[in-house]
Amino acid sequence: MSLFAWDTTYSVGIPHIDEQHEKLVSYINKLHQAMLRDEEDNVTGKILNELTAYIKNHFAGEDDLMVKSGFSDHDVTTRHQYERHKMEHAEFTRKISDMIRKHYESKEYISVDLLTYLVEWLLNHIASIDKQYASFIKNKR
Ligand SMILES: [Fe+2]
Repeated sequence: MSLFAWDTTYSVGIPHIDEQHEKLVSYINKLHQAMLRDEEDNVTGKILNELTAYIKNHFAGEDDLMVKSGFSDHDVTTRHQYERHKMEHAEFTRKISDMIRKHYESKEYISVDLLTYLVEWLLNHIASIDKQYASFIKNKR
């Protein structure tokens, strides 16, 4: 059973971004499975490394989209939203690298609470922050 099931309420309406978000959630579900099966540290570590790489690409892709669509510099509101968005990405990136470090310090570190926090952070970010640039792009079409 998944910790979290993806559904279309979390869609931002940009297909390749939705796919990436769904993939991020599936990585968190994979971590949950690994935790339940009490996998070796390197199994969980491998998922964490893949998740880190995927997040890095995903955030860079969103950044690119925000810049190329003109969102990052359209007006004072979008400029502010863009800055806030970058801050949230940086914060999450830090959180994940912190997780990797702590995971190797103590296997018990990865817990349902922590994974729930990650999923909630992600869904909250998608619903509030990602939807800002997504609706800007959709309105331009
Ligand atoms: Fe984002």
